[in-house]
This record gives sequence, structure tokens and C-alpha cells, in this order.
Amino acid sequence: MDDLFKKLISHAKEYGFIFPSSEIYDGLSAVYDYGQNGVELKNNIRKYWWDSMVLLHENIVGIDSAIFMHPEIWKASGHVGAFNDPLIDNKDSKKRYRADVLIEDYMEKIDTKIRKEVAKAVKRFGDSFDEKQFRETNPRVLANQKKIDDVRTRFVKAAENDDLKEIKQIIIDCDIADPVSGSRNWTDVRQFNLMFETKLGSVSDDAASIYLRPETAQGIFVNFLNVQKSGRMRIPFGIAQVGKAFRNEIVARQFIFRMREFEQMEMQYFVKPGEELEYFKLWKEKRMKWHKSLGIEDHKLRFHDHDKLAHYANAATDIEFEFPFGFKEVEGIHSRTDFDLSQHQKFSGKKLQFYDPESKENYTPFVIETSIGLDRTFLLILSNAYKEEKVTTANGKLEDRVVLKLPPVLAPVKLAVLPLVRKDGLPEKARAIMNSLKIEFNCQYEEKDSIGRRYRRQDAIGTPYCITIDHQTIKDNTITIRYRDSMKQDRISITDIRKIISDKVSFRTALSKLL
Ligand code: GAP
Repeated sequence: MDDLFKKLISHAKEYGFIFPSSEIYDGLSAVYDYGQNGVELKNNIRKYWWDSMVLLHENIVGIDSAIFMHPEIWKASGHVGAFNDPLIDNKDSKKRYRADVLIEDYMEKIDTKIRKEVAKAVKRFGDSFDEKQFRETNPRVLANQKKIDDVRTRFVKAAENDDLKEIKQIIIDCDIADPVSGSRNWTDVRQFNLMFETKLGSVSDDAASIYLRPETAQGIFVNFLNVQKSGRMRIPFGIAQVGKAFRNEIVARQFIFRMREFEQMEMQYFVKPGEELEYFKLWKEKRMKWHKSLGIEDHKLRFHDHDKLAHYANAATDIEFEFPFGFKEVEGIHSRTDFDLSQHQKFSGKKLQFYDPESKENYTPFVIETSIGLDRTFLLILSNAYKEEKVTTANGKLEDRVVLKLPPVLAPVKLAVLPLVRKDGLPEKARAIMNSLKIEFNCQYEEKDSIGRRYRRQDAIGTPYCITIDHQTIKDNTITIRYRDSMKQDRISITDIRKIISDKVSFRTALSKLL
């Protein structure tokens, strides 16, 4: 799996999806740039999320709030006091870790053992296998499950009580070693605030400390009343936002999974108090449907309900995807009660309430939040699409191909236009076809190298359709269309290209699956 992930990272660089930031200066840790294909894919994911929220729900509107916000906001939200990660250093390797992640990884390792045990039993017993019964009776599974449960209970209690000594003790008791050096020589655990601080104003003496926002959600909360009043919104309604967020992550790992500068796509749904759990359930279902509409198989997605709820939440779950390095969170769905609006009322002294014309009462709405990382979704889509295949070429040879089986709606390039040779009027004909289509689809013209090599390059960036213009095209206005996934080729009329492609690559088709 590790190997696969390495290949994915180098593929992303080689084909213009993702570059390390400031690479010619040896890079900047956990910061990345999107290349020519990456930016197209990212824009398409963003649009697919945005449209699924704002176009498909008449009671959801979008905003774009500033990254810099009044510093009091971060006191009200709890970020100044509590947006910390427990940090631990290994004295021998000098590597720094998040103590909670070391413990989570330990539990994940034991869980992997359980899953292997279950997989073996499935093979042995076939159709008659009862997984629930097996998990409840197999002594090895039970012993391992108990280990996980015990550690989890201890950890949840320690985290709730902010008991850093106990967190270190768990690491010692579980015999957790530094994954790099194998050393168990740990420092004490201490808290580390993840917000980036900077100064506002040109004169440093008078300057006020402000923060780069660590989440986009607060920009929504502080604009709740502006949007509600100017948009004449009635509860329930939602506000969506996509934008940059910044976190000084202690351990930056796993490529774009955990970055210091990243983008979030968040939606806060304001509901009547008492109705929040019903809407929590609804948004869980809607969000899972969104992921599946992108062709992600059921077994690669799961919910993970939070063991430890934040003090202001009364329900929370993560949608996890099976990345090459295991199941990890892509999206959080949280029932945040009226915590944020109440805090902002308290700190700003301004009333943030809704007047319900039916019940004729004022109340502070409760909030259901859906929060998904754009970069993390990018990694999900890329990991899911990356395939290494053995294929038979037209002349019967067995070849390797690397193909990105991206959902056509998200693919950076929809159509490659390829003249067979660079003469006999074929390039001119190809350009004319491309000019007639490029206003609608992202098309790419390529005339260098053999057709086979050009197909491979397009496979590697996930282009769903290639068309080849040959000598017959000049005679009868037909071209060969080649489909990425099946590699099948059809001879069709130039006038049919649009019809064949437009439906498959359109946002309309993809979004209609969500209705
Ligand atoms: N407003 C709620 C909130 O920010 P979160 O669980 O901290 O919740 C939500 O973040 C999502 O943002 C995560 O599920 C993940 O997809 C993304 N995310 C968080 N930290 C990230 C990071 N350092 N790099 C990339 N994505 C991140």
C-alpha cells in the first residue's frame, strides 16, 4: 500500500496535478501547489460540491467571507483557548508527533489484525459465515477488541480532562514506539495551538494580533444575521462557503491529506432547536449519497461516529474513505447546538436570533455543519481513480498502462483531439473540430508521438474521450472516438461528437443523481 501511495504522489507530480510548494528552494513542509491538471480537477470538485448545495437547495445560499477576521471571533469560538493538539517529541529521533495520532494508529493496527482475522474466516467458511457471531465469540478477536476498547476509554477520559500526563502514560503502557526510529524515549506531552498569528497594520507597535482563519465556518456564523435578513431566509436554511483555512499542523504527513494551508467546503444549516437530530440524520444521508454519486464503491466509505463529543456538540460523525494508508476522515458532520451563535452573541453583544413568524418567538437557531476538505477530497478522487492495468494493444502486445478512471464530470480534460499525422491537412481539420468544441469542453490538442503514446498520456491524466482525425476524416467527415475505460474505439460522424460527450461530462447529468 505504501508503494502504491508513493506511485500516486509521483504520478501527481509527473502529470501536472500537484507540485511541492517552492520546490526549487527545497519545498515548504505540508504546503503544495496545484498544477495545470490539478487546478482543473480541483475546480471541478469545488463546483460539484457548490452546485450540490446551492443549486439543488433553494434554502441554501453561498458567501465568501474574508480570511482575516476580528481576533475576538477566535476567542468566542474557543480556538484561542482550545484549538490545541497534544504534542510529544521523541528524544532520540528528535521527531515530533501528535500524541493522539500515535494512540489512534496503535488502535488502528490492532483493528487491522481483527479485520485480517475476519477476512481469513470469510475465506474458510464462505457463504455460511456469520461475521457478527464470529466477532462475538472468537477469542483472539475478543482479546484484541478489548485492547482497543480499553485504550479508547482511557484516552477519551484523558482528553476530556485535558490530562496530558495520562496521555503520555497510555503511550508508555501500550509500548508505542517512534514509527521512524523504534525508540520509546518520549518527552512529556504538551499542548500546541494550531493557529497562525500575524499582525494587522503597518506600525508594529500599534499592531493588533490577528489569525489566519483555521476554519471557514466562523465567517458563516458571524454573517448569519446579514444573510438571514438580506436574503429573507426562513429557518431551516443553510449558508455554504468554500475557502482557504490555515493550521500549523504538528505533523504534516501523507501528502495533501494534512496540509498547513488548505481549502474547506463548509455548510452550516440553521434549524429550530429540538429538530437538530432529525436534520443531522438527513445531512448524514445526503453527504454519503454525494460521495457515492462520484462512483466511490460502498465498501470504501464508512461513517465513524465520534467517541468523544466536543462539549458543544450533541452528535458528530465522520465520513471516512479507505485511502492507500487506511480508512481516514474526509468529512465531518456535526450537530453544534447553538454554541457558536450564542458565543458570538456573548462576545459581540449583538443579538443573533431568528424571529419565527409562526410561533411568534425569538430563538437562537441550532446548527448542523457539514465540513469537507477540498484537498482531501482531491486525494480521495485521485486515489480512487488511479489504476495500473495490463492491456492488450491493437497489435496484440501486452502492455502496462496507468490510467486515472476519474468521473468524467471531474476530469481536467474531457476530450483529446489527435490528428493521426502532422500533414495532409489533418492538423487543420483537427483544429477546426477542436475550435467548434472548446467553448463547451476542456479539449486538448496533441500531434506529437504515435497515437498509442498519445492515448497513454491522456489515460494518465484521466481524459475520458480521445478522437483521432485520419485521412478518411477528410473524405467523409468521420473520426475514431476512443473510450478511456474500455479502450473501445468507434467510427462516428463529426457531428455526433458533441452529442456523445456532452451528456457524460456534464454537471447536469452528475447532479441529477442527487435529486
Ligand atoms: N468547521 C469544522 C472543522 O473545521 P475539522 O474536522 O477540523 O472541522 C473539517 O475539519 C475537514 O477539513 C476535515 O474533515 C478535512 O477534510 C479538512 N481538513 C482539516 N484539517 C486539514 C488539514 N490540515 N489539511 C487538509 N484538510 C484538512
